[in-house]
Amino acid sequence: MLHRLSLLLALLLAGPALAQPLLGHGGPIRALASLADGRLASAGFDQAIILWQAEAGRAERVLRWHGEAVTALAALADGGLASAGEDGRIALWPAAPGPAPARVLAAGQPVTALAVGPGGALGAGLRDGSLLVWPNPATAAQPQPGHTGPLHGLAFTPAGLVSAGYDGQLLLWEAAGPRPLLRHDAPLNALLALPDGGLAVAAADGALLLRDADGQLTRREAGARPLIALAASPDGRVLAAATLGGSVGLWSLPAGRLLRLLDGPGLPVWSLAFAADGQRLWTGGQDGGLRGWAVASGTPLGPLAAPAEATLPAGVEAEGARVFRACQACHALAASGPPMAGPHLSGLFGRRMGSVAGYAYSPRLAQGDITWDAASLADLFTRGPDVVTPGTRMPVQRLSEPTELAALLRFLEQATGAGRVQ
Ligand code: HEC
Repeated sequence: MLHRLSLLLALLLAGPALAQPLLGHGGPIRALASLADGRLASAGFDQAIILWQAEAGRAERVLRWHGEAVTALAALADGGLASAGEDGRIALWPAAPGPAPARVLAAGQPVTALAVGPGGALGAGLRDGSLLVWPNPATAAQPQPGHTGPLHGLAFTPAGLVSAGYDGQLLLWEAAGPRPLLRHDAPLNALLALPDGGLAVAAADGALLLRDADGQLTRREAGARPLIALAASPDGRVLAAATLGGSVGLWSLPAGRLLRLLDGPGLPVWSLAFAADGQRLWTGGQDGGLRGWAVASGTPLGPLAAPAEATLPAGVEAEGARVFRACQACHALAASGPPMAGPHLSGLFGRRMGSVAGYAYSPRLAQGDITWDAASLADLFTRGPDVVTPGTRMPVQRLSEPTELAALLRFLEQATGAGRVQ
């Protein structure tokens, strides 16, 4: 026991590693997609995709399958999800996914944009500027050259497939080949098809370009920083636009008037998605956190991974309970409860790794060669699950603050109801 304690102390005093907030993803959230059934999907540089019951603040599944950063997500008509990554693969997931996708499409190089079209058509933009189009997932696709740098945005429109590229071009893909719709003097970072047939385009010089269905162009300035993400409310009346390292603006459509800037924690963000009712906007943060905002007022509704404190047992270590809010979206403390992304933590101290019956662990955790106690848990969150249990589906989480880690461990020991501090 003594050497355990000294190991724990050594770990606790090992000093700051990476200061990472624990909010779900282990790095910036690169892409978000609202799914047909009201769920939300998020994808990160940490290679994970998380499916959320956004209203309940609960993560339902972690899909860890891509071998590199996940760069794009698109909702499928059947309630499923398409994901694409720097690993050059596109995965099609059913609405209730298992550990592997239902279908995999090979792109041959990093995928930089994804779009779902009518009749199950799928388009993928590639790093070298070319385009892949599958009329349906069962057919083959040949890359078609177009942009001279990475293809950053893709959208099916009534006129055809349109792409935006690093080369500043907006291309309409016709049967005879790509035709330029506009040429901007800075890279284009994102593209959105609007419900009225128009297009919104985000440029690296901060220009927001609105092109109506007749080809009429309106230019607005979102600031000096590059625009990186766009989302439109389902009724097409509000556009959200985020700048790299900066703010999120809400703009009226079709006029393109700045309504308000979001003001609150969790900025800057990398990705945006509106809820189906258009009342809330979800943002995917640089800090790995997913947050909700009231569209009408621009005020924060809080991080998705932090439900009300009332759901925590009474009389437990308060600081640890606060730290645990980052885990709460994926882990229940009790064995009873709704299915969540991670296994329940009841009886954690003294429990063998990977031993909750009925939970589908990754092969690494299923090996069960670690017993959870203060020392092994401290190690898990100091070096990080990716180092201690390589191949785990738990997103990268590290606690660099020794006092936070100690508080979390005390809380877990109290609240998971097993073993006693010796
Ligand atoms: C986004 C979801 C998510 C978050 C946030 C998360 N985890 Fe996990 N956790 C998982 C998943 C998924 C697994 C199972 C991984 C596997 O099978 O590889 C897991 C596994 C674990 C295990 C091993 C359990 C066992 O039965 O062996 C522990 C312990 C754990 N998590 C603790 C935590 C703590 C403490 C936090 C907060 C600091 C946290 N997790 C945050 C998803 C999450």
